[in-house]
Amino acid sequence: PEANTVCVLGKEYKRDDMTNVTPSLLEKVGRELHNTKDHPINLLKKLIVHHFHKTYINTAGNPLFTSIENIPPVVTTEQNFDSLCVAKDHISRSRSDSYYINSETMLRTHTSAHQRDFIKMGLDRFLVTGDVYRRDEIDSTHYPVFHQMEGVRVYLKQNLLPRSKTMFEDGEETDEKQSRHTLETSKALELELKTTLERLVKYIFGEETQTRWNSCYFPFTHPSFELEILFRGEWVEMLGSGIMRQEILDDAGASFKTGWAFGLGLDRLSMLLFSIPDIRLLWSKDERFIDQFKHITLPMLTKENLNKKDLSFKPFSTFLPRCEDVAFWITPEFNENDFHELVRATCGDIVEKVELIDSFENSKTGKVSRCYRLVYRSMDRAVTKDEVDELHSKLRENIEKLLPVELR
Ligand code: PHE
Repeated sequence: PEANTVCVLGKEYKRDDMTNVTPSLLEKVGRELHNTKDHPINLLKKLIVHHFHKTYINTAGNPLFTSIENIPPVVTTEQNFDSLCVAKDHISRSRSDSYYINSETMLRTHTSAHQRDFIKMGLDRFLVTGDVYRRDEIDSTHYPVFHQMEGVRVYLKQNLLPRSKTMFEDGEETDEKQSRHTLETSKALELELKTTLERLVKYIFGEETQTRWNSCYFPFTHPSFELEILFRGEWVEMLGSGIMRQEILDDAGASFKTGWAFGLGLDRLSMLLFSIPDIRLLWSKDERFIDQFKHITLPMLTKENLNKKDLSFKPFSTFLPRCEDVAFWITPEFNENDFHELVRATCGDIVEKVELIDSFENSKTGKVSRCYRLVYRSMDRAVTKDEVDELHSKLRENIEKLLPVELR
């Protein structure tokens, strides 16, 4: 491959001034943990799909939801943003938040990128599971690749409202509804959405699980709702959802339908379900990881059994962390995500955490200094002092060369 192209899943793409995918990230594209047998993310996906398949059936007993699990993560910026009414200047489009292959092509930041296309193909009920990519900070629950399951349900009027009601009007947008929806439409969709998702949560975590809904904002739904569950005494965010923007349905050739959608993060949920302490373990190729899940079957995962059987992951070893600090004067061009990215590109998964431990301004020069602490540790082997020293000095070199900062 030439230097002016970038190869993703066997296909060459032209680089341009938006390209920001790195080799270490591209190694993860194609791993498809959601389709890896016995992997916790695969188990959780199967559990949720099973619930939808058995709960929503037609009169002949066949599942109503189609589950789509093998759509590659390379999408157009039009699919990822424009098809979802994301404004041209929305921050999620920036090079510091998303991974671009070039100005037209990117790694999807969410499975919502496929909503419009599957509705256009005629599906009324579907689930889309896939790997998604976002530039982010480094810690035990964040990783630049994670997994989502999208759920979409669209309705004809007769499947949503009583005969006497109308689905559309030429009205005003309020906190409770879009301009073209009647209040009855919005409320009926909200009720269906919330009932469906609460039922799902109770199936996964047990009937007695407490839930709460918060209102929130997404460019592609209105109103929008976030669902949290109380898990071992802590409120955990489980998914984002809402009433689909009618413009998306127009674009899909389904103006006469209305619908709701949700997007559920599989990584953190599977970590909760199996007590996995660090997100990097999900990416470990060490067989001692996957081996622990080989005996788990779907019936073992359901609510009745979850509490009885111990499904918890047993850490196979614990190694001591090694900490190193790095301090530099920053300039206005400095972007923290670029720094995190450089740490990943240089040191890979060995850096467990990057933490800002000090920041001050020199009162004479006005220059701002930042000091970051890097925690070096592997989940599956001991890391030597020499190895850390070498990585850390390589990192210092790269910082000097590639970031708009001055090392101290
Ligand atoms: N795509 C949103 C996210 O990634 C989640 C979402 C999906 C919200 C569908 C509303 C509807 O955060």
